[in-house]
Amino acid sequence: MATIAPAALPPEIASAIVNPIAYGQWNELKDKFRWARDNMPVAQVQAEGYMPFWAVTRHEDILAISKDNARFLNAPKSVVLSPVAVQMLTHMITGGSPHLVRSLVTMDAPEHMDYRKLTQSWFMPKNLANIEAKVREIARASIDAMVATGGTCDFVHQVSSLYPLHVVMQILGVPHEDEPLMLKLTQEMFGGEDPDLNRARSVQLTPEQISQLVVDAVRDFEGYFMKLAADRRAYPQDDVATVIANALIDGQPISDRNAAGYYIIVAAAGHDTTSASTAGAMWALADDPEQFARIKADRSLLPGLIEEAIRWTTPVQHFMRTAAEDCEIGGQAIAKDDWLMLCYVSGNYDERVFDNPDRFDATRGPNRHVAFGAGVHQCLGLHLARMEMRILFEELLDRVEAVELAGTPQRASSTFVGGPKTLPIRFVAR
Ligand code: HEM
Repeated sequence: MATIAPAALPPEIASAIVNPIAYGQWNELKDKFRWARDNMPVAQVQAEGYMPFWAVTRHEDILAISKDNARFLNAPKSVVLSPVAVQMLTHMITGGSPHLVRSLVTMDAPEHMDYRKLTQSWFMPKNLANIEAKVREIARASIDAMVATGGTCDFVHQVSSLYPLHVVMQILGVPHEDEPLMLKLTQEMFGGEDPDLNRARSVQLTPEQISQLVVDAVRDFEGYFMKLAADRRAYPQDDVATVIANALIDGQPISDRNAAGYYIIVAAAGHDTTSASTAGAMWALADDPEQFARIKADRSLLPGLIEEAIRWTTPVQHFMRTAAEDCEIGGQAIAKDDWLMLCYVSGNYDERVFDNPDRFDATRGPNRHVAFGAGVHQCLGLHLARMEMRILFEELLDRVEAVELAGTPQRASSTFVGGPKTLPIRFVAR
């Protein structure tokens, strides 16, 4: 097939794609992605301070790249968009690696599958059934705390930012009293761009300062988990921490850096993401009392609600890939070593796949969203995320009679993991 001449996105779209603040202005951002999908679905982004990259905005191209793991790699360059200054710092700090944390998402075959297999069966539905009662206990306590507010709360602060954290900390064997520290560190690592979420709470951070925040958070994380690993080697338990601490590949223990990276990816990936989709589901229900009543009356709609909340919220807003060879995607020639952004937000609002994508529709089916990615890196925790959301909403729908928005929710300013950062609601509980 003939390829088309390379085209760069108009500057206002390119600068939005790299700008954390633009992700807080959700509707405007979605309009920009729609324009890109319609006019330049695989287009170069040239933005000041960033290495040029391709923005891939159509659902079908995002899927094709995600599934072609031989041609589109994770290891060679950063898997998350970051300014050149941050990349240089990362290089310096790590002694030449583009990745601050070495984890599943930064590995390619064959190493990736060796590491993924260590915990994969733990995250399958069959094993997760063993922790369902514990998760329900945590969900019930979260709803108790919400009901105890008396009928008005910020759902993000009261419920959704804490519940998945409790669950993931439980499976990592982190004691309850250390959870606030973990919450702080994950928010600093992932929310470093948002002034409300970062350590220094200052609006004017330079790339160097943002990078330093993330470096500090990673260092604190590594120190914490190395102690936990030593404990689990001495006293094995029935949790993911023990699996990682005692993991062998080809008969050899995995290195401290790789073990720490594993804890970090599970702790970090398993928390803010599910918080965001849980808040997204609540947002949609509070905004549409009729839909809330329908789902309360017919629980068979719950799986649809969860899948739609994950699509509609798209907690992980992008991942990057690097081309292993000259190739073509969406008719566009891509050169070896080119850097590509999988724009999941855009893919999940692609009207070629989703009818009226802006509408939140719990009965949407099939719901072929790309929020969990695809291919060999597809989210390891997707069954856990769905289970957590199902259990929380089962408990919530049992207790809450009606709910409405009590203000305007805000989305986080972050190019990577995003979603609601405030969600004021009013509710009537039994
Ligand atoms: C709604 C919640 C979640 C969303 C939207 C989400 C999204 C994603 C996405 C987009 C990827 C990359 C996929 C790709 O490159 O193709 C990913 C990878 C991953 N996720 Fe999730 N995630 C969620 C919840 C979780 C949970 C609860 C856990 C674990 C406790 C988890 C653990 C991981 C891990 C370990 C990876 C790396 C997998 C690999 O590279 O092989 N995630 N997730």
